[in-house]
Amino acid sequence: MSTTYTLDTSTSRANPTPQPMKRLSVPKIQRRKVDGVTSEPVVMLTAYTARMAQLLDAQCDMLLVGDSLAQVIYGLPSTIPVTMEMMCNHGAAVVRGSYHSVVVVDMPFGSYEASPQHAYENAARILKETGAAAVKLEGGEVMAETVRFLVDRGIPVVGHVGLTPQAINVLGGYGARGRSDAEAKKIIGDAIALDQAGAFAIVLEGVLEPIAIEVTNTVGAITIGIGASAKCDGQVLVTEDMLGMFERTARFVKRYHNISENIEKAARDYAHEVRNRSFPGADQLYQPKK
Ligand code: KIV
Repeated sequence: MSTTYTLDTSTSRANPTPQPMKRLSVPKIQRRKVDGVTSEPVVMLTAYTARMAQLLDAQCDMLLVGDSLAQVIYGLPSTIPVTMEMMCNHGAAVVRGSYHSVVVVDMPFGSYEASPQHAYENAARILKETGAAAVKLEGGEVMAETVRFLVDRGIPVVGHVGLTPQAINVLGGYGARGRSDAEAKKIIGDAIALDQAGAFAIVLEGVLEPIAIEVTNTVGAITIGIGASAKCDGQVLVTEDMLGMFERTARFVKRYHNISENIEKAARDYAHEVRNRSFPGADQLYQPKK
């Protein structure tokens, strides 16, 4: 399927981004970290649709088409059932809706673990069909060979260690990682392996803060924290979590809004007006020309 459309902002029902901006690049993001210090933290949020991408784009450096769309969009119990088709379709929508941010698309469970070659085929498909600049995959040392294989062949990679939701069946829960010495050592070793393999950024999810700080101070890659530390080189959150779309979220989520209340109120008002026949009103109706 060809997905190389551009969003026609003059006819789209979405508001056009007022001033299309030049898109950031992976090397530009990488250059933010100089001698282990990132003077301007990297801002990342998830987006799964063109309209959300339009709304977030100007405020972000990177947009992540996360496989968290499993729960947020599709009502699935975990990220395990996510398919390449879902990631390609949502990835293409987010690229169409953005002008500025580096778009990163998650590789779904089962699309990259078997071999570097298998990962390459699927990562290349994601970049071709979406126009995104990079892919993200979960796992540390065990994925280092694959990361090197992709990077050497022109595919920028974001790593993801600590709490890795695709491994839920092995981890047994979504709690913070790194509470034992062995687990802490493993997370740090995993991040170093990904860094050495050429990952340009590494998501540190749900790890104890000292681990996040040590990784950030050790690796050349940009560390992106989610439930990690404000001292990471950047931060990411699931947009719907920070907008207050869900009643239950992880401890590390800060709600910047309560959008679910606004949606419920709008639906209540609409239902009321339909039932008492005050909607549609004169402003919403067409009458014969006089
Ligand atoms: O899928 C996702 O949204 C993610 C972020 C939570 C980092 O991987």
